Amino acid sequence: MPNTEQVNLDWENLGFSYHKLPYRYRAYFKDGQWCQQGLTEDANITINEGSPIFHYGQGAFEGLKAYRCKDGSVNLFRPDQNAKRMQNSCKRLLMPEVPTEMFISALQEVVKANQAYIPPYGTGATLYLRPFIIGIGENVGVKPAKEYIFSVFATPVGNYFKGGLTPTNFLAADYDRAAHKGTGQSKVGGNYASSLLPGNLAHERGFSDCIYLDPIEHRKIEEVGSANFFGITRDGKFVTPKSPSILPSVTKYSLLYLAKHNLGMETAETDIYIDQLDNLVEAGACGTAAVISPIGGFQVGDDFHVFYSETEVGPVTRKLYDELTGIQFGDKPAPKGWILKVDLDD
Ligand code: PLP
Ligand code: COI
Repeated sequence: MPNTEQVNLDWENLGFSYHKLPYRYRAYFKDGQWCQQGLTEDANITINEGSPIFHYGQGAFEGLKAYRCKDGSVNLFRPDQNAKRMQNSCKRLLMPEVPTEMFISALQEVVKANQAYIPPYGTGATLYLRPFIIGIGENVGVKPAKEYIFSVFATPVGNYFKGGLTPTNFLAADYDRAAHKGTGQSKVGGNYASSLLPGNLAHERGFSDCIYLDPIEHRKIEEVGSANFFGITRDGKFVTPKSPSILPSVTKYSLLYLAKHNLGMETAETDIYIDQLDNLVEAGACGTAAVISPIGGFQVGDDFHVFYSETEVGPVTRKLYDELTGIQFGDKPAPKGWILKVDLDD
């Protein structure tokens, strides 16, 4: 029987790290169907040494959050979009799709069972949910697995980038993250494995992360290693890169909607050239983990470009942050279908 009494953690200083919570969800795919599903207290998974996830990276993951509201209820933000994106990742890597209903009910079960660890309203912290699917079983040739595990764990988190709403600086990567016809649109481990070295090089030079450029000409912005990119142009337009090798971010599409409908801005998914950065007066990284993280300066080769300020968030970025987080934490009305309440009672 899960503990429902709120535990006490240092909610304001959680950072983005793993806390082993009591419960996680597991389901097994065998003989062409999903079976054996439910919660477990075992945080470890024992699988065969030949499992395709180990050697050939046959796996995909998702990331979304549960938000504690002022009235104590708990919101999930657009979980159907994460379910859809995982289904697309599964298609790309020849894995069985996790049905939307099963995906969402797994999220509900994990949040409910670990509700003592949902950060309180007003701390800015949230319960991060990490659904994933892996190909398992005896194998050695390059081919898809016959069996799979789908699992969801949770961990309470704060800021992904140290600054929060204070801008931090980013570095243009000297490496590509994904190819145009590769797996950039899928949330699969290989994209992140290839981002470890460039990410480390950026950290060593004091940057928060790197920003990838298009893999053909290296003239256009693609995305941050762990988030999409957006900018505000001199004439007040919300712009964000359009590319076949970036992750279709739920946050990015939500911001495109909110900029247009709630803030009355013009919006565009378009090419953003690194030799035209003067046209952008604000910029940010956006994603579930990153939320909206303002980009202060951007180092491209020997040039260092400051968007709005290295120390203060720009006014439009702040407005977008207030709109987005207001909806997520239940303080502002949400567009239809964006919020799903978690049923916390038995
Ligand atoms: N781009 C990458 C590479 C990411 O890892 C993420 C995080 O999920 C995003 C973008 C943002 O996507 P979302 O807003 O759906 O979290
Ligand atoms: C997310 O925002 O959910 C991510 O997956 C980003 C990162 C932690 C990989």
